[in-house]
Parts: sequence; C-alpha cells; structure tokens
Amino acid sequence: MTGAEHPVPPGDPRGGAPAGPPDDASLDHSALAGMGSGLEGVFITFEGLDGCGKSTQMELLAGGLRERGYVVLVTREPGGTPLGEAIRDMLLDPRHHGMSARAEALLYAAARAHLVEQVIRPALEDGQVVLCDRYLDSSLAYQGYGRGLGSDDIVTLNVWATECLFPDLTLFLDLDDSLRSSRLAAVPDRLEAEDDAFHMRVAEGYRELLLAHPHRIHRVDARGTESEVQKRVRTVIEEEMELFSH
Ligand SMILES: Nc1ncnc2c1ncn2[C@@H]1O[C@H](COP(=O)(O)OP(=O)(O)OP(=O)(O)O)[C@@H](O)[C@H]1O
Ligand SMILES: [Mg+2]
Repeated sequence: MTGAEHPVPPGDPRGGAPAGPPDDASLDHSALAGMGSGLEGVFITFEGLDGCGKSTQMELLAGGLRERGYVVLVTREPGGTPLGEAIRDMLLDPRHHGMSARAEALLYAAARAHLVEQVIRPALEDGQVVLCDRYLDSSLAYQGYGRGLGSDDIVTLNVWATECLFPDLTLFLDLDDSLRSSRLAAVPDRLEAEDDAFHMRVAEGYRELLLAHPHRIHRVDARGTESEVQKRVRTVIEEEMELFSH
C-alpha cells in the first residue's frame, strides 16, 4: 500500500494542503477528525482487529456508565438491526469467499445506513450514550486499506450512508497478533480467514487513522486482564468526555 493510494487528508499539516475555502472532501475529512455527532447524546465507537477485546470492553464500560445513571445503547456493526444482522451473515459467511471489494464496501455501508437511521441517530437525539462495536474506521481500515479501495471513496460513500454522522470519540484497542489469535474463535469467519497480508494492510490502515485523527481516535493498550484494559478505557473516556466524574 503506497502513500499515493491513501493521500493525507486535506487540511492535514502533513499534506501541505493549499489554504483556501474547504471543499466538500475536506469537510468530510474534518468531520472524521473529530467534528462529532453534533447531537444531544455521546457517540463512542470501538475499533481494532478481531479478538482484541472490543465486545468485552464495551459491555464493561456500558455497565459502569449505567451504574452512574446514563442510558446506554450498545450496538454493533455490521448488525444492530434485523436487516443489519442479515447483511452481517452475508458478509461473514465463508461461502462468499471472493466477494467483490466494492460489493463488500457497499454492504457494510448499507448496514451502517440502516443502523444509523433506525437506531443510532434516534438514540443520540434522545441524549443517550451510544457505544458501537466498529463503525466507519473499520470500513476505512478493512475496505480502504485491506482491500485497497482507498480512503476517499470509502469516506464519500459513508458520508452519504450516515448522513454525516461521525463519532465523538473512538477507542482503538491495540493488541499484538499472537495474543489476538489466542483469543480468536476456532472457526474463522470470512474476514478472519483472509491471509496475513490482508490483516497487515488493515493494521497499517488503523495506524494511519490514528496518526491522521489523533484528537478523535485514542489508542488503548489491550494487553492484560479485562479489568486492567477497562481501567485504561475509562481513563480515556474520563480525559476526553468526563462521563464518570459527573
Ligand atoms: N483481557 C482479556 N484477557 C483474556 N481474554 C480476553 C480479554 N478480553 C477478551 N478476552 C476474550 O477474548 C475473546 C475475544 O474478545 P472479544 O470478543 O471481546 O473481542 P472482539 O474484539 O470483540 O473480537 P471480534 O472482533 O472477533 O468480535 C473472547 O473470548 C473474550 O472472552
Ligand atoms: Mg466482538
């Protein structure tokens, strides 16, 4: 994967973008950088490679937030609605090995569009804390980098699909491959079954996203026990959102 295929987002100081009024693309990228949902609630997404502990940490965080009186919605991608779960089954089914990269990107975006419209946006408008297991950064890492579709088209597709709904905060759980594979299920799904080169590109995609959006995406060391990792998760949540001190 070369830098040319994944240009530095417009407006990023590393890109030396010319000054001037932002065009549509740079608005999209600045939203990714941390514009947030702009709605009443709080939208937090969890990212990372398979088996890094996303689902476990989200449930622990949801429990802690509920104890403090927050109304918390936990959802996942693809999925979270009957239609989304049906799309998830299609995407992860190993029988669909060889699915075209564009079909894959569109299916993820379709599931996301439905979840945002029917579940996430209404919950945020209602003032809830929404925790989502994977979101747009997964599409950037897996389809943009892993499949080589590039960032720009994936951003454009998802800006449309989500009607510009971006997370307020994203936690990237970082765990090395040997620990991750020891935690993974015995039977891999279609994405897990991809070769090492694919997963290396995805990991590189996440590294680039962390660099490009340091204000929104926070790396969490996912080694150690569940409670050790949860402590780190809550430290970030507290520093960025102060949800636990209210
Ligand atoms: N800190 C931890 N130490 C040891 N095992 C863990 C830890 N956190 C999670 N696990 C276990 O590792 C497995 C993967 O964790 P989890 O399902 O939370 O990861 P995930 O990121 O949601 O994975 P996937 O992307 O496949 O959904 C589970 O069996 C879980 O119980
Ligand atoms: Mg999970």
